[in-house]
Amino acid sequence: MKILNVVGARPNFVKMGPIMEALKSRPDSFEPILVHTGQHYDRALSDDFFRDLELPRPDIELNVGSGSHAQQTGQVMMLFEETCLEVKPDLVLVVGDVNSTLACSIAAKKLGINVAHVEAGLRCGNRSMAEEINRLCTDSISDYLFTPDPMAGENLLKEGIDKERIHFVGNVMIDSLFKYKEKADSLDYKSKLGLSNKEYGLVTLHRASNVDDASVLEGILGALREISDELPLILPIHPRTKKMVETYGLEKYLEYGDNVRGVWTAPPLGYLEFLHVMAGARLVLTDSGGIQEETTALGVPCLTLRNDTERPITCIQGTNSVVGTDSAVIVAAAKQVLGSSLAAKEPPEKWDGKTANRIVDVLSNSSTVAR
Ligand code: UD1
Repeated sequence: MKILNVVGARPNFVKMGPIMEALKSRPDSFEPILVHTGQHYDRALSDDFFRDLELPRPDIELNVGSGSHAQQTGQVMMLFEETCLEVKPDLVLVVGDVNSTLACSIAAKKLGINVAHVEAGLRCGNRSMAEEINRLCTDSISDYLFTPDPMAGENLLKEGIDKERIHFVGNVMIDSLFKYKEKADSLDYKSKLGLSNKEYGLVTLHRASNVDDASVLEGILGALREISDELPLILPIHPRTKKMVETYGLEKYLEYGDNVRGVWTAPPLGYLEFLHVMAGARLVLTDSGGIQEETTALGVPCLTLRNDTERPITCIQGTNSVVGTDSAVIVAAAKQVLGSSLAAKEPPEKWDGKTANRIVDVLSNSSTVAR
């Protein structure tokens, strides 16, 4: 089975690493080909992740770069259609919910090529979020829907997806986390900064709804500043956020330089460094999806700076709370976490480091995919 495996943006690399490894371990059955759309292109958001996750160099690079949603999605569709016509894959495998995920699944399906979607069925119910549209559209046309938890499967059934197409395999991001945790722990990033475990917090912020609007962004940065009076915060800053902080003149909320204090701003971290810092954090504040899951697997308290989540399992069975973007509410939630201790919980079912193998088992046993 010739499979075109698509990656485009940072979280895709973390999911694709274990899948490529599992496919490559069965060379008699699979010929995996890696396509990078180029949605993320900066070294810190792309190359460093290939290095840390030991991903093979992409076989095909589309180099689309940034643009509006329609420009980026359309550009990927046009180039990926050509790729499919040339390579003639038996299956296109996409992961996550970024624009590249949507673009490649549509282009493939319109050529009659089967599509597998890893991380299917997640829904936040907020259709003003680009990723929710990407999830809905990709799932509705995919032939294999690999879900991370039972709630995701229920969402798909409610939308009328055939139950034969839905495969509950667990969370593939956690495969990478387990594989690299020890290596990440052994880095000296924290000690070089003079940090001890649980004596700092970690923040990520990049959602358009949080960083593109000046008053929302200022409210969040103000809250972080207040929390940092009790706990210094590390903010590895996404290029989009950096640009908006500069555009709106909000640098006064941030600290730069060699010493970690206040809301301390660092360049984006690679996968291993980020895992190293996240695992030792007292508290994580984020608007990312994947980090809600990784903190649940690590048992680190997480406050999600959004009004909804497509990953409710992390609130029910994990360490996550969705707190929104109101400044006072964020500060109160953080103080509550800092004043309490967290009871250990069992991780969600099948978040066990073996998800990629389950995906490849399903594909191996499948008869429908052969052309
Ligand atoms: C994208 C995904 C989001 C994911 C995030 C992870 C979509 C709709 N969004 O958001 O779901 O959580 O990646 O990081 O697919 N930029 C650079 N260098 C890069 C890439 C981007 O400087 O390598 C800047 C550009 O100004 C660009 C902006 O960041 O316009 C946004 O990039 P884009 O890929 O459109 O969205 P993200 O915010 O990264």
